Amino acid sequence: MRRALIIGNWKMHKTVAESVEFARALSGGFTARADREVAIAPPFTALHALAAILKGTPIDLCAQDVHWEREGAFTGEVSATMLLDAGCRFVLVGHSERRCFFGESNDDVNRKARSALRGGLSPVVCVGETLDEREADQTLSVLRRQLKEGLNNISADDIRRSIVAYEPVWAIGTGKTATPEQAEEIHDFIRQFLERVYGKELAAEIRVIYGGSVNPENAGSLMAKKDIDGVLVGGASLHLDSFRKIIHY
Ligand code: PGA
Repeated sequence: MRRALIIGNWKMHKTVAESVEFARALSGGFTARADREVAIAPPFTALHALAAILKGTPIDLCAQDVHWEREGAFTGEVSATMLLDAGCRFVLVGHSERRCFFGESNDDVNRKARSALRGGLSPVVCVGETLDEREADQTLSVLRRQLKEGLNNISADDIRRSIVAYEPVWAIGTGKTATPEQAEEIHDFIRQFLERVYGKELAAEIRVIYGGSVNPENAGSLMAKKDIDGVLVGGASLHLDSFRKIIHY
């Protein structure tokens, strides 16, 4: 059985004080459950403070990005080693906002995912098609390429520690969620891709989570689908009320 994974991606929101207040309140009302894992992805600046708050609670920390080198002259960047040291367990790589606004390529995403794994983190490799690509019937070919290049040279041992997030770009921050059926169709496609590369048994262990306008109303029906193993939540993770409802789906 794959454990559901729910990650709140705060993007560029919340000061350290706001993050701490939120994490205290959230962890206070959440006890460990065998069927689900919860993580929050605050901005870099709040990671270390949150690690102290979340220590000993069932809530994990996730970073929003990582550089592909361990250290060096890369002004503004943060390495996997640093993120692990700051208390992270997961890191997002290839979020569509990184791809769209910062020009990240599939190759960059792959280098980041591999550096995360080398550094002892679990990468959450994000893939997803834009509206234009969907309308031009290119969804599957875009995803195939993102998966092939993004997961290139990731060993069987490492893929076990990795997560794939399907985030249709047209559903991110738009209030337009993929229906559970639409999402399941793509998750099934991703699972088949993983089966071809890693074999059926291993592919059955890998979590594929969904992101894009997830809210308390749709989270349960999305996660009820066979191949949807959790959710990556943006906007609705910024408010205690709505994120609480989602983690208690
Ligand atoms: P959203 O963002 O939930 O606000 O659509 C999801 C994401 O970007 O991960």
